[in-house]
Amino acid sequence: MTNAVFLIFGATGDLARRKLFPAFYSLYRERKLGDKFAVVGLARRPRSNAEFRQDVLDSIKEFARYNVTKDEQWESFAEHFEYMSLDINNVEGFRELRSLTDKLDAKFEIGGNRLSYLALSPELFGSVSHNLKAGGLQETGGWHRLVIEKPFGYDLKSAEKLNAEIRQVFDEKDIYRIDHYLGKEMVQNINVVRFANAFFEPLWNNKYIANIQITLSETVGVEERGGYYDRSGALRDMGQNHMLQMLAIMAMEPPGRMHPESIRDEKVKVLRSLRGFESSDEVRAHTVRGQYAAGTLKGQALPGYREEDKVNPHSNTETYFAARVFVDNFRWAGVPFYIRTGKRLPVKTTEVVVEFKNVPNNVYLAKKHKLEPNLLVFRVNPMEGIYFKMNAKQPGSEGTIVPVAMDFCQSCQVGLNTPEAYERLLHDAARGDSTYFTRWDEVALAWKYVDQIAQAWSERSDDLQSYPAGTWGPERGRKLVEEDGFRWWPVN
Ligand code: BG6
Repeated sequence: MTNAVFLIFGATGDLARRKLFPAFYSLYRERKLGDKFAVVGLARRPRSNAEFRQDVLDSIKEFARYNVTKDEQWESFAEHFEYMSLDINNVEGFRELRSLTDKLDAKFEIGGNRLSYLALSPELFGSVSHNLKAGGLQETGGWHRLVIEKPFGYDLKSAEKLNAEIRQVFDEKDIYRIDHYLGKEMVQNINVVRFANAFFEPLWNNKYIANIQITLSETVGVEERGGYYDRSGALRDMGQNHMLQMLAIMAMEPPGRMHPESIRDEKVKVLRSLRGFESSDEVRAHTVRGQYAAGTLKGQALPGYREEDKVNPHSNTETYFAARVFVDNFRWAGVPFYIRTGKRLPVKTTEVVVEFKNVPNNVYLAKKHKLEPNLLVFRVNPMEGIYFKMNAKQPGSEGTIVPVAMDFCQSCQVGLNTPEAYERLLHDAARGDSTYFTRWDEVALAWKYVDQIAQAWSERSDDLQSYPAGTWGPERGRKLVEEDGFRWWPVN
């Protein structure tokens, strides 16, 4: 149970509507929120409490895991929601907010705890933090946490500036930087599989693993976010955060204990060990970037990226990128991590594939059998599960060897209603568990790595290749893996 006043900045925006309100509702239904909480929706536009509650209801109806009807249960939930129109540059408004939160605090017996969730553009983080303090909202006796959304800066320099601004008001331990991939069930399961099973950890190194492949593919284009995306691109939008976080989780050493800081320390060590680039040519040799052109997906004709709304018609922003990444430490020396992500690819999926090396002196290979390597696959999204592919004799055959799969399909279980990433993260932030949030040093190291690539790419654009929407990205993406004698394993 969590006692807190949640201040949702950007309460009329898309994130609040699609993710946050439904998350509050699920937590409430599952009795993880209790009754000692209040949610204050904040945005500039005027809205009455009744209108705001109606917005919340509509969003829950559309996006939540639980059905909602306007019954008693809804009424008692809705009672905790209030709206206030706020100009975030005006400290006077924050003083009023202080009075409103005090009133709610007394009504719901909250005890001073405040969680400010900034579902806002990062340029505003500094002003909001500053005014939270100036308006007296940090002096309410309980804890004061800040939850912020990506993008956390545009590069290391801007991230440092942003961080310095919020650190004037909040301690690092009270800052919860969301990377919603860390809230996904199967991403969290990677650690369990690695560290709670006797048979994976001994093999988890360069002696037995040939390569690791991380794919985050999307069928959607830039949707309504052309303005943001054209400035960001796939590298900053997905690479700097979700992809490097997943790589760090795959590569990290077992933490000494399951404590947020121990886990984050281990991830930081991986990020610190990422092999940098000596030159722009080296960046180009290890990375591929592409941009979708017009094409078809599931029979539907789709426009090219440059024709999308709010996108510069001459844009050189990448909507696909792939990279060969090395982690220069004892465990991973020589093992390539291939990462790729893109919009308008043929399927929506997130998968991590561990490809194992062949056994020494494989007598079946000597007999010219075609053998597939062993694979361990984490399916993160939308299917959730783990499968292990190994070789076995085809039943009834004269020694034909075929790959067979041991498949644990989590999302196949009937009645399993996996919590949304946002539910878990909101709950974690409210109970003060920062394990699945990114710490500043992780963010900084990830930017340091990504900045080298972005810098090299900014020098020339002749390596930006176009790919038709609905295909697996530019040709060189495939070659990147084939150059090393491997191939991308098909995703499911
Ligand atoms: C976000 C990116 O962080 O992740 C989006 O900004 C992307 O561009 C999204 O579409 C993908 O998330 P998910 O959970 O749908 O895989």
